[in-house]
Amino acid sequence: MLLTWNYSLETGIRQIDQQHRKLIELINELEIAHENGRNAEALKNVLPRLTAYAQFHFKTEERLMEHLTSSTHKAHHISEHRKFAKEVILIETVDCVEPTKTVVRLLDYLKSWLVNHIMKTDKELAGYILTRGRRIVDKQHS
Ligand SMILES: [Fe+2]
Repeated sequence: MLLTWNYSLETGIRQIDQQHRKLIELINELEIAHENGRNAEALKNVLPRLTAYAQFHFKTEERLMEHLTSSTHKAHHISEHRKFAKEVILIETVDCVEPTKTVVRLLDYLKSWLVNHIMKTDKELAGYILTRGRRIVDKQHS
C-alpha cells in the first residue's frame, strides 16, 4: 500500500516537511516499481536515489539540531539516522539474495521506520526548534 502524506505527519518546520514528502514519494516509487514486477530495477535505480536523499535529509536535520536541542535528543536522533542507514544496507546485501523479497523487506522497513521516526523523534526536534524560535521572537519584542 502506498504511503500517503497527511497532516498528522507534519512537524511544523517547512524545510523538514518538504523533505519528508520527497522521501515518501521515493518510497512510493519503490513500491510502484515492485507492483509492476520491476524489482531488480527498483534496487538498481530507485533505492540509490532514496538512500542518497535520506542522507541529504538527515544532514539537514542534524545541522538544525546542532545548537537547538538537548544533547540527549541529539545523540538519540543521530543514532536513529545511523541505524536506518545500516539496516537498509543489511537488508539489501546480507539478508536477501532475491530482488522481490529484498524489495518487500525494504518497503516494510522503510515505511514503518519513516512514520515512527517522524511521529516521535522528528516532532520532538521540531518542538525544540519552534520553542527556541518563539523565545527569539519574544526577546525581540520585549
Ligand atoms: Fe530525523
